[in-house]
Order: sequence, then structure tokens, then C-alpha cells
Amino acid sequence: MTVTVAPPTRLANPRLEVVGGHQLHGEIRVSGAKNSALVLMAACLLTQDTLRLRNVPPLTDITAMGEILAALGVRVTRSRDIVDLSGDHISQSAPPYELVNSLRASFFCIGPLLARMGMAQVPLPGGCQIGSRPVVEHVKGLKALGAQVSIEHGVVTAVVPGRSRRLTGGHIHLDCPSVGATETLMMAAVLADGETIIDNAALEPEVIDLANLLIAMGARIRGAGSPTIVIDGVSELHGADYAVIPDRIEAGTFLLAGAITRSILRVTPVIPDHLGAVLTKLEDVGCQLSHDGEGLTISARDIRGVDLRTMPFPGFPTDLQAPFMSLLATASGTSMVVETIFENRLQHVAELQRMGADIRMQGNTAYIEGVVRLSGAPVQGTDLRASAAMVLAGLAADGVTTVRGLEFLDRGYANMEGKLNAAGAQIRRLSSEASNADA
Ligand code: EPZ
Repeated sequence: MTVTVAPPTRLANPRLEVVGGHQLHGEIRVSGAKNSALVLMAACLLTQDTLRLRNVPPLTDITAMGEILAALGVRVTRSRDIVDLSGDHISQSAPPYELVNSLRASFFCIGPLLARMGMAQVPLPGGCQIGSRPVVEHVKGLKALGAQVSIEHGVVTAVVPGRSRRLTGGHIHLDCPSVGATETLMMAAVLADGETIIDNAALEPEVIDLANLLIAMGARIRGAGSPTIVIDGVSELHGADYAVIPDRIEAGTFLLAGAITRSILRVTPVIPDHLGAVLTKLEDVGCQLSHDGEGLTISARDIRGVDLRTMPFPGFPTDLQAPFMSLLATASGTSMVVETIFENRLQHVAELQRMGADIRMQGNTAYIEGVVRLSGAPVQGTDLRASAAMVLAGLAADGVTTVRGLEFLDRGYANMEGKLNAAGAQIRRLSSEASNADA
């Protein structure tokens, strides 16, 4: 007699099980912007006073940034969506390596630490799934403000020479409108001695949000949101009580959830100017949109193909390229998607093909022939936005789609399945342990 021994319970990666074919209804609330909150938190290093940030999203990246700031001596307390950061006593200017490695955004500490302490030592953020993520512009700009910067063993060390240990205003021309470089250099320049001009600055709403916070803290900044930002350095900054802008990428993702399920769905709050290019593309594919002063209602029936190319703001945002491609995979007709910002941000194409999408790749361009129905399958999210794109595809697919890569998803979307289920989706988050029966 053959005895079959059941394999041991396997530790299966946590995953989302998405049952396709459900229309959405009602409304979905948008949290505060991850890509603003992270840099605003770093700005607490610029003052000895307490900085209160409101509308901070409950994300793993936010928690990680709080841990890094706490390791530098900042007192960090959180109550619901309010985070208080007190940097009255900064114990060191080198965040611990093991923490920094877990969060690219920790590099945002280098500018304020240098401005406040006259020195900073931060590990290179390094590359990730979507690209090499260089910080050449950040380093070039810090040198233009008088810092001596060296990179050894994967660590960036920046020091302000001389007794004053105070940066000096300078004229910086960015080779590319880098969001992170613009934000880093703004935070370095606000306490510098003299005027700083940043040319070819990034125009993203998150840059404006940072400028508005710094101005609320007493900084003197003109031109944020334009290609030329002018900063008159001051000797010190005070605390502030400031609300983070809504997350335009999360908002765009949920609008696309409404479109891909051919639903009528209200997403709120939405600032239309933060999503101009995306709203135009949604109308081009056949969606009706109406803004009621706070929220945006999308109504989608027949979706047709469209061409899109990612560009720096106000162009189409690279962070919504993957989610939008999921929609185009279900459109009638042909689409062309060109990714111009990151060198490796089309890995979700292979996963969509596993679900029956008809996509042909050529370099940084994807040619998509819409299909009537995607079919549910086990898929892997390879970065934060690709994981979200897989969930969207699962909403529209025939059958069940199992999405892995939640460690990416949870970095940028707070309780994504909970928000979608409240609007009619059917998604289960399976625990990290599962017997074969459940796997
Ligand atoms: C920010 O990253 C966002 N992250 C990204 O969001 C977003 O995709 C990106 O801006 C573009 O909008 C945060 O704000 C935390 P960049 P950042 O410097 O600042 C090249 C998400 O999904 N470049 O504007 O790192 C770079 O290689 C994330 O939420 C240089 O060549 O972006 C890239 O191709 C992903 N040299 C392009 O510029 C440099 O010195 C845009 O990078 C710096 C950047």
C-alpha cells in the first residue's frame, strides 16, 4: 500500500486573490500622497521645533522613514493620520545603514542634515526593479552649494568646509528635471547663506507641496512649480502644522479601477490639476469625468485604445503607466505605450500576457491589441505600480487572479483591497501561511 505523505504546510508568500467580473460603485477615499509625505517628513530635520504633518498615509514606507528619523534623534509620534516630528536634538548625521537600505527615500535626509549639521553621511540609495536610480544631480547640486562630497563603499559623505559649516547659495542647472534632486537641493538651500537658483527644476505637485511646507516653516522660496526656483537662505526655520496633498497616483489608480470594470465610481479627494494628462487620456479612451469640487466621478462603458508616452510633469506620469496599460489591454483597438522616464518599467507586460493580454514589445515601447476578456491567473507584481496594475487587471479578468508582490503594493497603497471591496470588488488577502489546500 502506498502511503502518501502530505507535503508540509508551505509558507506561501502573502498574496491577493482577486475575483474578476464585479462592477464597482459608490466612492473610494484617497489617502495623503506617499511621494510628498516622505520628503515632508525629512524636512523636520531643518528645525529644532516640532513639525506636525496631517493626512499622512499609513504605509510601510512612512513607517520606515519614521524609524530612520528616530535613529537620527528625532522624536516621532503618530496618531491616526497625524505625525509629529521633533528634531530639537539630532544625535547624529548618519542614518543607520541597515535602515536606509530598506528605503530609497531615506536619501532625502542628506540635504536637510547637511543644512542643519554641516555634514551628512547617507548610503547610496542604489538601484531598484525599475532602474538604476542615480543621484548624480543631487550630488552635483550639493557641491554647487559649497559641500565637499565623496562616495566610498556605497556611502555618500557630504561636509561643509570652514568654521561656519553653513552652505553657500549657488546657481544649479539640473541636467534632467529630477524630482528627488529638486527636493533635496531645495531643503539644502533654505538655510544656506545667500541666494540659490535651481534651473530645470522638476514641476511635480509634490515639489510644490514641499515648497509650501518650507515657506510655512519660514523659508523664502519663489517659483516652485516652474522650471526656475529661487531660494533666499535664512538662518533658521520654525515648526509648522501642515496637511499633505492627496495622493494623485492613488487617485489615478482608483479612477482606472472604475474604468477597467466599466463602472460609475467616485474617487475623492482629487485635485484635477495634479492629474491633467491622466484625465485627458481617460476621456480620450471614452470615459466621462465630472468633478464636484472635491471628488471626481468616472463613468466608463466602451473603452477604445489610445497612445501614451510617459513624461515629466505635466506630462503623463510614469507611476500610472502600468495601471493604465491594464486598462488598454481590455480596450477595443490598438494602443502604443512608451516609457521614457525609467529604463526598466515594463516588466508588468509579461504578467499581463499571462492573463491573455495581446502585447508586443519593442525596446521601451509596448504595442497593445485590446482583448475582449483577460483571464485570471497567478501573477507577480514587480514594483509598486506594477503590483497595482495586476490588481486592476484581476478586477476585469474572467475567474480568479492571484497577485503576489504585496511587499511592493503595501509601500504605496494603504489597504488597497479594503478600499476596493468597500466599492464592490471581491478581493481576499491570504495570510502568509497556507496549506496546500489554500495555495
Ligand atoms: C520620484 O522618484 C518618485 N519617488 C517616483 O515614484 C517617480 O516615479 C519619479 O519621481 C518620477 O516622477 C518619490 O518621490 C519618493 P527622478 P525620483 O529623480 O525622485 C533620472 C513610485 O512609484 N535621473 O525624477 O527618484 C532617473 O534615472 C515612485 O511612487 C538621472 O538620470 O525620480 C529617472 O530615469 C517610483 N540622474 C528620471 O531621472 C539623476 O541624478 C526620473 O528620476 C536623478 C535622476
